[in-house]
Amino acid sequence: MNTLTDLKDRFPGLSNGWARFDGPAGTQVVDTAIDAMSEWQRSGNNANSHGFFPAADACDALVEQVSGTMGELLGANPEGMIFGPSTTANLMAVTRAISKSLSPGDEIICTTLDHSANVSPWQIAAEEAGAHVRMAEMDGETGRLPVEVVTDLFTNKTKWVAVSGGSNAIGTMPDIVSIAQAAHANGTRVAVDGVHRTPHVKVDIGEIGCDLYATSSYKWYGPHAGVLWMASDLLSDLPAYKIRPAPSQGAGRWQYGTPSWETLAGIEAAGKFLLDIGMENISAHEQERFKKLLSGLHEIPKVRVVGVTGPEDVVDRAPTLMFLVEGLSPENVAKHLGDAQVAVWDGHNYAVDAMEPLGLHLEQGAVRAGITAYIGDEEVDRLLEAVSSL
Ligand SMILES: Cc1ncc(COP(=O)(O)O)c(C=O)c1O
Repeated sequence: MNTLTDLKDRFPGLSNGWARFDGPAGTQVVDTAIDAMSEWQRSGNNANSHGFFPAADACDALVEQVSGTMGELLGANPEGMIFGPSTTANLMAVTRAISKSLSPGDEIICTTLDHSANVSPWQIAAEEAGAHVRMAEMDGETGRLPVEVVTDLFTNKTKWVAVSGGSNAIGTMPDIVSIAQAAHANGTRVAVDGVHRTPHVKVDIGEIGCDLYATSSYKWYGPHAGVLWMASDLLSDLPAYKIRPAPSQGAGRWQYGTPSWETLAGIEAAGKFLLDIGMENISAHEQERFKKLLSGLHEIPKVRVVGVTGPEDVVDRAPTLMFLVEGLSPENVAKHLGDAQVAVWDGHNYAVDAMEPLGLHLEQGAVRAGITAYIGDEEVDRLLEAVSSL
């Protein structure tokens, strides 16, 4: 199956007819996730964990259920699932603790391909510990981050590699399996920012072999939240910043305050949605539309797609791209597309370190369009027509 067009009916937010290429910044929410959140709040189950009445039991059951679904979706041990408000918040919290485990002179490798959420928290952690961040430089022409560019930076002081599982700007998905293997051979831990990978390809944390994997459910048809998977030795041994009565073991050590139960119910439903449709089917559908979009843009003379070598350059890429239109600022292009009811983003989209290698102005960036499961051929045609008419 490579067409999921009937899926559009599952997204109430699409009923206004807009073509939504803004998915990389947050997708529309699937009907079952909307229902699960509202049903939870109507149910009387809003309580807290570890009590002696049915609503408290329901809270415990919900955590187990959503952790199980996330474990199945990401190919990982469910006990490692930490739920928080966002990936930025989750990575900021865990790097506070990692900072305490670093010594002066230690090194952390970050990359210029990454969203700032997987760079700044490490920079702050390094600064506090007297450690150093070394940046692995992406190739701006090809948009790729070759494995050696990362591994060549390894020394016996490299404690962590923080690497993108998929670029939210230009879609590139680095070979994180090889990076993680080389890292572990060097005694280095690996944090993967999977926010832009999870919605587009099947993820298997067991196969990747990373120590941390971050994702955000609002990028895959669920509510605004972050899910951070942590390897079991870190989960138990890394000293967490926590308040005294908070759990002293497991994922609970890393979660601040009472969980947003309704959000957990929404995450659970969104995760089930991905599992029901099948990530392979979503990937196949998205890749077809991505090829159409990429080749269509290449045929428009005044358009330049950045960080790709040509219309065929679709392998190991999430279906997301950035482009410029000659003579127009990215902001103006985005406004014109908005007039045609085509939603895109412009700017750097927080991938601030990628702008210079890609030859883009830091503030202006480029226009970004992302394919998601609910984008069909019709929407791609609308975007291409709107760009052609500029
Ligand atoms: C690749 C990537 N990493 C991290 C983030 C940050 O996610 P959150 O908004 O959940 O903090 C984003 C958000 O756009 C992203 O696209």
